[in-house]
Amino acid sequence: MTAFQAPTGTRDVLAPESARIEQLVATFAGLCRRAAYGLVLSPMFEDAGVFRRGVGEASDVVTKEMYEFEDRGGRLLALRPEGTASVVRAYVQHRPPVPFKSWYVTPAFRYERPQAGRYRQHHQFGVEAIGSADPDLDVEVVALLDEYLRAAGLSKLVLRINSMGDDECRPGYLAALEVFLAAHADELCGEHREGWARNPLRVLDCKREECVALRPEMPVLSSMRCDNCEHHFARVVAGLDALGVGYQFDDFLVRGLDYYTRTTFEFGSLALQSAQNAVGGGGRYDKLVAALGGPETPGIGFATGIERVLLALDAEGAAPAGEDGVDLFVVDLTGGASARDLTHQLRRLGFSAERAFDQRSMKAQLRQADRSGATVAIIVGEDELARRQVTARVLRGPDAHHQESFDVDDLAPSLQKLLAGARP
Ligand code: HAM
Repeated sequence: MTAFQAPTGTRDVLAPESARIEQLVATFAGLCRRAAYGLVLSPMFEDAGVFRRGVGEASDVVTKEMYEFEDRGGRLLALRPEGTASVVRAYVQHRPPVPFKSWYVTPAFRYERPQAGRYRQHHQFGVEAIGSADPDLDVEVVALLDEYLRAAGLSKLVLRINSMGDDECRPGYLAALEVFLAAHADELCGEHREGWARNPLRVLDCKREECVALRPEMPVLSSMRCDNCEHHFARVVAGLDALGVGYQFDDFLVRGLDYYTRTTFEFGSLALQSAQNAVGGGGRYDKLVAALGGPETPGIGFATGIERVLLALDAEGAAPAGEDGVDLFVVDLTGGASARDLTHQLRRLGFSAERAFDQRSMKAQLRQADRSGATVAIIVGEDELARRQVTARVLRGPDAHHQESFDVDDLAPSLQKLLAGARP
């Protein structure tokens, strides 16, 4: 074992595995751009109050999982456990025009018990759309996540949706829930038997047997929603129907972060074990901007875990994203200067090109060319160089072993033709 290893619950991702993530980033960024969401970058750490107040003092993420520390100046900071509170903090600070539609890709830090699909540093894509209470925005955001997950290659998905009410109907519902929980406290799981009063909603999505067993009797918000929330939710549902996004209603989908109001949603992968099957989720947070010091402003967003999506893809047996090798590998038998100049020239012409370093033998260079996944090797020998020529040898595909000589000063068209023919 080496002296230092990546900390528990974190992992290094090297190429070629990282190529799959690169592809997901491109897919997500492309979809966001098409839907007019702009990239937002914000700090990896914030005043701990951003998350305490934003995500909720009583949420597990804050009480059990947050990486909090004092910096050398005595400020209490926290590594971001998620992106929403940070983006909303940035919105309140800068007050860009609304609707403020943003996307991000970020590491998120949570001190959890590491297991498959659950890390202490995971990576999320997300969007946050701030400044509109229109239910069509809920539909846009849910449909965007649906489209991304499908574009990533997932098909065994289930979307669960719920509405968590607002200031008008939630207090009455909470009161009813509290009465129920007080009467059934003895029947709750070990954690909630004593602690349910701190955050009664958490009992709804508790996965422990005792709490789940009580679900059929628990009061649910859907039977107590106010007209405004009912109307909003009906519009969301009609929009999902219109766009052909399938869903299931789930009264117990309250999600683990405390900022949600009205619409909540979560995509589960049917190919993953239930404890870690959430590949993405989100909801409305119409009180969050005000909670972080801004004016009353509605918002909605989602985040999707990169590692979870990769796990779900593997579990579905979805074909792994093609690992693209380079187009060309320059094998230089003249000492290295030709490889230096030619790779530079080829890259400027738009090809991907690699070379060997350290003046290795032809055999070693060809072995490396093969390992690099290159389609064509460009071999430069002394005699040819004198004639300003190179040999192009096809390394893979239907034309493998085919060899041709090309003029160094007119490489691009010949190579393009060769590559086009060599690719299956
Ligand atoms: P979240 O459900 O806590 O939501 O996390 C989003 C996604 O991140 C999850 O669905 C899951 O795929 C992934 N994830 C969460 N924790 C871990 C972990 N420990 N290891 C691996 N993957 C994980 C949020 O973070 C909200 N900010 C989403 C949101 C945005 N709501 C409104 N806007």
